[in-house]
Amino acid sequence: MNHEELMLRAINSAKSFKYTAKPNPVVGAIIINKDNEIISEGYHQFYGHNHAEINAIESAQKQLGKKFKSFSELTLICTLEPCSHQGKTGSCAEAIVKKDIRKVIIGAIDPNPKVAGKGIKILKDNGVKVKNGLFEDLVEKQNSFFFYKHKNKKPYITVKIAASSDGKSHYDSNQRVFITSESSRKDVQKVRANYDAILTGGNTLRNDNPRMTARVNFPLNQPKKILLTNKTFNKESNFFKNGSVDIFDSNNLFKIIDFYADSDICSILVEAGPKLANAFLQTGYVDELIIYTSSNKLGKKGIDWFYKDNAIENYGFKLESSYKIDNDIKEIFKKNE
Ligand SMILES: NC(=O)c1ccc[n+]([C@@H]2O[C@H](COP(=O)([O-])OP(=O)(O)OC[C@H]3O[C@@H](n4cnc5c(N)ncnc54)[C@H](OP(=O)(O)O)[C@@H]3O)[C@@H](O)[C@H]2O)c1
Repeated sequence: MNHEELMLRAINSAKSFKYTAKPNPVVGAIIINKDNEIISEGYHQFYGHNHAEINAIESAQKQLGKKFKSFSELTLICTLEPCSHQGKTGSCAEAIVKKDIRKVIIGAIDPNPKVAGKGIKILKDNGVKVKNGLFEDLVEKQNSFFFYKHKNKKPYITVKIAASSDGKSHYDSNQRVFITSESSRKDVQKVRANYDAILTGGNTLRNDNPRMTARVNFPLNQPKKILLTNKTFNKESNFFKNGSVDIFDSNNLFKIIDFYADSDICSILVEAGPKLANAFLQTGYVDELIIYTSSNKLGKKGIDWFYKDNAIENYGFKLESSYKIDNDIKEIFKKNE
């Protein structure tokens, strides 16, 4: 295999850990000898666990003396720049230097300002040969929320809503109602699985008692839950079972978005009623809108999602895709930029 094929292999295998590594990026590392034969592979499998390079080095260590004499004969191929900071697991760039690996081929520079070139500097300052930018676009694409967050200094924000065919969210009595089909609700579970956090407001918590977990049949690091409320709420609610919860008693959405710009969270799914969903849309910071529309009506007793001044057209979205799920329609709108 040549270096291009090896990098593609690392990118492709890293993908398997998309749901368990988040909110971290997926990363793959392959260690090869002079003849481009694979000595070991490592992946960042779970959030908070070893980085890919460390797993590859630890696995190569077992071959030392059998398949190679010294790490200095080997080349490390990794999809993302090795980290420079200590973080949860120690600096990968320093571990590479310590092992005396002399050549490193990198897919993309880590956009996290804590790293952003500093990992490469540690390598170069210690005489390691570095080649960078092999399939950078693919690495960026497979970690789109991670790259987006660091480029834009804010998490990627999606508002997801379910609407009746007459554009309503719920009944004015606040009684809980399932608007869309079971298949759409299953689809929502998969959407949730993609995000680092799910955010809702106090009324939805009190009226619906939602769990807001991603109930999917594959392993994942469950999204963090975020609650915005100034009022009292039942701490025994389903929302507080399974997973960590951040609670904000502020109505200032800009401050809340800013707070997450400085955290590990790269993407937030807003699942709230019309008041909070529209307040988010009005910030201008929403990147995507997902609307599930059922064929049923709620009628006069239903509360509107949008009315003339806050029609979604005014927020500058364009329709990206539209398809049927049973009798419902799922539409995805993205910012028209
Ligand atoms: N069809 C759907 O997709 C869907 C999804 C979710 C919910 N719902 C329905 O929506 C209903 C509740 O809708 P809702 O919009 O009144 O409640 P919500 O989703 O709880 O959002 C409004 C609440 O968020 C909090 N909040 C914090 N900052 C805010 C801000 N800047 N602007 C607005 N709210 C802010 C406040 O909580 P406090 O009042 O606690 O301070 C406010 O009452 C529920 O009955 C539920 O059934 C429908």
